[in-house]
Amino acid sequence: MPSQSKAELLEIARHRLYPSLRDPNYLVLRRRRLILTEWISRLPTDGLTVLDLGGRYQPYRPLLVGRVRRYVAFDLLQTVITDVVGRGEHLPFRGNSFDLVIATGVFEYFPKPHDVAEQVFNALKPGGVLLMSVGAVSGRYVDEEHWRYMRSGLGSVLAPFAEVEIVPEVYTLGGFCRIVNFGLDLMTKTALLRNVYRATVCPMINVAGLMMEGAKLTTNDQLAGNYAAWARKA
Ligand SMILES: C[S@@+](CC[C@H](N)C(=O)[O-])C[C@H]1O[C@@H](n2cnc3c(N)ncnc32)[C@H](O)[C@@H]1O
Repeated sequence: MPSQSKAELLEIARHRLYPSLRDPNYLVLRRRRLILTEWISRLPTDGLTVLDLGGRYQPYRPLLVGRVRRYVAFDLLQTVITDVVGRGEHLPFRGNSFDLVIATGVFEYFPKPHDVAEQVFNALKPGGVLLMSVGAVSGRYVDEEHWRYMRSGLGSVLAPFAEVEIVPEVYTLGGFCRIVNFGLDLMTKTALLRNVYRATVCPMINVAGLMMEGAKLTTNDQLAGNYAAWARKA
């Protein structure tokens, strides 16, 4: 939506970074922030050149405040905060340009994700890092999405990288709660019903999921909602 104002885009980004309990995606978004915060703490403390692939909203940019020399937001859609418009399948950047590539919620869209991962690999400097988040057991949001990922499929997309870490954003119990919330949110067709659901059932399911995930009752990831990945170029 190119007509969105900067304030609207930043508000969406803020909700993704600090999700409300009324958000059906609360469990994965909350955990993603914690995972990415920890991974970002491993990076150099200043002078970073960053590419945000699928950077329409840039929810994770605030985690890098004070550490960035150049931040390039690249997206298919032009918005007031997009720096370069294009397709991730044809990245228009020289090799060895970036210390960090952030790609959250975008590898679901690429028809040939392995090819895009190769391009990201080339765009990174030696030692550079790709931080990713992809849907696993997750509903479809828009028709343009092509993929959901299993751990091993994501590993194969990231095969060019020397070091890869893949973690579920929520394990099976949290993933179950998230998918129930997703389904209920879809089924509440009227604004009134949806508002009631989001103020009552949705937060209760999120709290239940949070408690079960917190209690670490299982590390089974067969219903993992999303995976986050850290991948470092040698
Ligand atoms: C689900 S949003 C994720 C946005 C943001 N990265 C986040 O984490 O909130 C997916 C983004 O990928 C962009 N996108 C989809 N297909 C793309 C492509 N082929 N090349 C570049 N960007 C694409 C969309 O325009 C959209 O902004």
